[in-house]
Amino acid sequence: MVAAGFDVEKIREDFPVLKQTIHGKPLVYFDSAATAQKPYAVIEAIRKFYEVDCANIHRGVHELSQRSTAAYEETRVKAKRFLNARSKNEIVFVRGATEGINLVTSTWGRQAVKEGDEIVISALEHHSNIVPWQMLCEEKSAKLRVIPMNDRGELLLDEYEKLLSPRTRMVAVGHVSNALGTINPVHKIIEMAHEAGALTLIDGAQAAPHMKVDVQELDADFYTFSGHKVFGPTGIGVLFGKLKLLNAMPPYQGGGDMIRTVTFEKTTYNEVPYKFEAGTPNIASGIGLGAALDYATHIGLDKIAAYEHELLVYGTKALSKIPGLKMIGTAREKAAVLSFVIEGIHPHDIGTVLDRMAIAVRTGHHCAQPVMDWFHIPATTRASLAFYNTKAEIDLLVEGLRKVKEVFD
Ligand code: ALA
Repeated sequence: MVAAGFDVEKIREDFPVLKQTIHGKPLVYFDSAATAQKPYAVIEAIRKFYEVDCANIHRGVHELSQRSTAAYEETRVKAKRFLNARSKNEIVFVRGATEGINLVTSTWGRQAVKEGDEIVISALEHHSNIVPWQMLCEEKSAKLRVIPMNDRGELLLDEYEKLLSPRTRMVAVGHVSNALGTINPVHKIIEMAHEAGALTLIDGAQAAPHMKVDVQELDADFYTFSGHKVFGPTGIGVLFGKLKLLNAMPPYQGGGDMIRTVTFEKTTYNEVPYKFEAGTPNIASGIGLGAALDYATHIGLDKIAAYEHELLVYGTKALSKIPGLKMIGTAREKAAVLSFVIEGIHPHDIGTVLDRMAIAVRTGHHCAQPVMDWFHIPATTRASLAFYNTKAEIDLLVEGLRKVKEVFD
């Protein structure tokens, strides 16, 4: 099938995991928001590192160390290009978006936030962009303010405006909601925060795999994403921070590589970004992430976004034909996330029956319990799509849900 100028069958050939059967049926993978699948290019880059180049980085004069260092540092350059950062020194490697946010709360937060200050997050956040701020607020006797949303799962910008004040230190919001798929108007959110004198952190975990991100155009102060959601390995992610902010921040963890000199009396720290990267990093995953960014860039984020939008429109229409199904999250600007409930059937039961049909969805609160509370539901069934999915797979999901209804009705 060729759609939006893009050959999905050819793309699927790049993903070995998609070639298998589960319970005798071809796998339909609809859980890419939890983790995306990996193309051969990523698997091959990791294999090559361990097979040919394996050595520690930033430490050796020998050939293998030189090669590993060059490959790992090349990913920093690729990440800079991927986000359109000004400098590769604005790219800090972390374990994932969760650590990116924790790094900011633990360093910038500890230094800048004082009693009575306020941090603004949104009602759409997943736990990673709630709990670290909550912990910081508790420690500093600061206040956490939450931008509310409407029934579609869209943030209310007029309410947001009322929350902003000279006490606001940081506005931290997700670019795309993992539970609902809402694409937040982060450009506007950042502009409003800056007018109020606050900094901004954008959690791009669910945006980076699906759309072009330009941190300069957004004017984001911090932007973070996870490698495993952009078709790369687990255990690696990126925190972008404006250089002047990173330079002013204290280190994150202490250890090797983040230092310049160490004596028992005093340690001086390495320059940015190494100041934030203590210890031997996840070298193989860093190199794998470079291959993943190349892969997504080569296909083209604009093409990916257009194709996935086609899937979203098709899927939304197809699912609306299932009696008793209610879509949770109907924002006008939405990524390819189909979150829903079916009257009288628990999401876990839906997920279990679908699994028997080789359809992998996530069921539960999606690490976003406040979102579920807002809709007064304990959980949803979530089909989260990527550019390797097809309309034929959506048809199988619809068929599967009809089967679910037969079993439980
Ligand atoms: N935050 C990830 C998800 O949405 C794990 O499934």
